[in-house]
Amino acid sequence: MNEKTSFTVPQYTDELCCVINTALDEATQFDVDCPVRLREAIRYSLLASGKRLRPILVLTACELCGGDRQKAIPAACAVEMIHAYSLIHDDLPAIDNDDLRRGLPTCHKKFDEPTAILAGDALLALSFEMLGNLTPLELAGRCCKELAVAAGPCRLVGGQMDDIYSSNNSIESGSIQIIEHIHRRKTGALIRTSLRLGCLLAGASEKQQIALDEFGTYFGLAFQITDDLLDVLGNEQTVGKRLRKDTENDKWSYPRFLGVDGAKREAEQTLKLAEHSLEYFRNNNPAQNNIPLQTLDNMVKHLALREK
Ligand code: IPE
Ligand code: IPE
Ligand code: MG
Ligand code: MG
Ligand code: MG
Repeated sequence: MNEKTSFTVPQYTDELCCVINTALDEATQFDVDCPVRLREAIRYSLLASGKRLRPILVLTACELCGGDRQKAIPAACAVEMIHAYSLIHDDLPAIDNDDLRRGLPTCHKKFDEPTAILAGDALLALSFEMLGNLTPLELAGRCCKELAVAAGPCRLVGGQMDDIYSSNNSIESGSIQIIEHIHRRKTGALIRTSLRLGCLLAGASEKQQIALDEFGTYFGLAFQITDDLLDVLGNEQTVGKRLRKDTENDKWSYPRFLGVDGAKREAEQTLKLAEHSLEYFRNNNPAQNNIPLQTLDNMVKHLALREK
């Protein structure tokens, strides 16, 4: 039994979290030209105890496709940086106006609004600097394009835009198709791209890429449906953010359109499709103890019941 196959899934994800946290810490030391307050705000939000779902997906996808996860660490950091920037800006008074994130005061509450806006800007730029560290340069370029599209106007930012303005409109003017389109972009796109980056860095085969792309599409959508459910059903202390905010802000959430039970059913059906997407790997990975595959399977199994 080699070192990799002797891991259990929780040990494997703990190990990945450790690797990611160390890399994020190293990547945000900065030289004297970075103002101390800005450095503090960046590190406060980025290093706070998030689940690290997206970077774990990068590294797991890379290993599942036969790549060396060490090589994918800059890309894992890059997606977490985009995520952290999107959370800082999402929490601003002009967007969701939240005061609690990852169990701590939000960036603009701890510091101030200008600092939070600039910390987000810095993280956005830094994420592409991370990808610039990848070699060969042609691969770095492909990863930059992949992440830029996912974070850009037709994906994450576009989804955020429609999410914000949806609350000005009556529920009758919405539909489940519209809200699905918002969720796929504001949250699903970065999750899907995390898997795609892992594939790119592993030099995955076309079949591997297609399978993980499909997995990411369904899993990413299900992730935001369960985030909407947590807003209604969750415990604030466990989740680490203010809850019942979607209703308060007239957000177009899945429970608002389908009710809690309908949203749960939708999450479960979407997760079934995610689970099915992994079939290719089940049939084409002869290793008995395929921890990266088990890790993705486990994520699917536990997502509907997540408490944070
Ligand atoms: C929260 O994401 C925001 C959404 C896109 C739903 P996570 O639930 O992954 O937050 P952290 O990273 O664990 O704090
Ligand atoms: C956030 O969606 C999506 C992004 C940050 C891109 P939400 O607004 O639902 O996330 P939370 O609930 O504040 O974490
Ligand atoms: Mg929001
Ligand atoms: Mg929010
Ligand atoms: Mg939410």
